[in-house]
Amino acid sequence: LRVVVIAGGLSPEREVSQKSGAQVADALRRVGVEVDLRDVGTDLLPALADASGAVAFPVLHGTAGEDGTIKEILELAGVPYVGARPGACRAAFDKAVAKEAFARAGLVTPASVTLPKEAFHDLGAAALTGRIIERLGLPLFVKPRAGGSAFGVSRVDAAEQLPEALMACFAYHDEALIERLVTGTEIAIGVADLGEGPFALPPVEIVAEGLYDYTARYTPGAVEFHHPARIPPAAAEEAARVALAAHRALGLRDLSRTDAIVTGDGKVVILETNVAPGMTLTSTYPMALEAAGLGFGDFCRDLASAAEH
Ligand code: DAL
Ligand code: MG
Repeated sequence: LRVVVIAGGLSPEREVSQKSGAQVADALRRVGVEVDLRDVGTDLLPALADASGAVAFPVLHGTAGEDGTIKEILELAGVPYVGARPGACRAAFDKAVAKEAFARAGLVTPASVTLPKEAFHDLGAAALTGRIIERLGLPLFVKPRAGGSAFGVSRVDAAEQLPEALMACFAYHDEALIERLVTGTEIAIGVADLGEGPFALPPVEIVAEGLYDYTARYTPGAVEFHHPARIPPAAAEEAARVALAAHRALGLRDLSRTDAIVTGDGKVVILETNVAPGMTLTSTYPMALEAAGLGFGDFCRDLASAAEH
């Protein structure tokens, strides 16, 4: 088994991916796997030439990494790879499409609207703000329709903050997803499949002082994590059910991480499902593996060797 870990990429999450890739490569080396870590930018294609005869382990976050593009290229190059197939990645990475898939599977997501950048310019901030707040109330979260690591995400507590939040979002994507804030306990639920069907890892609880934004995510000690999460056993069971149902609804493979809120009455509301969860030292997926008693290196090796066959 030879594994080529593909990291970096061209999205705003490039640095996160470099950190994730280094963790995956180190973990694989520690369990004796031959690894080549490729930090790719526009030089992806030459890097793929080296992947011939190996298994690719893409750890690319964001556009062109998580949206299925890299998987399309690997398919075309005939390189076996770890993770979901292109169409499933595309659906998961588009938060609006994913919400529809979740709804069809009977899963709950926050009330939302999508808003193209043009509408903002055509209708004007004042008219839009009124309509959106009339529909969804406050507080709100404004997010790029596709993206990661909280880039372009803002919380809106008052009407006058909405235009600025939309501008920040449109710096990252041409369409905004505006969601009603759901209060409760924020958790991340990893799903893993080592060949015998997907199973949920113990939920990890995220306690951020302010927003769980880019700085909070990647500054060691900035966020308190509890694994397993401090939620009632029935809510933990429901969280596992929901994460598995989300993984299946999107047709994912190998691994995913569903981010959700557990409400006061024990309901689990899905925020999103990630096909290339962060693998950095402050990311929740490796913590969940540890909580499940699974070695990170063994897990990565098992995924890669399953992809080889
Ligand atoms: N988008 C980041 C890497 C995550 O979901 O962990
Ligand atoms: Mg994400």
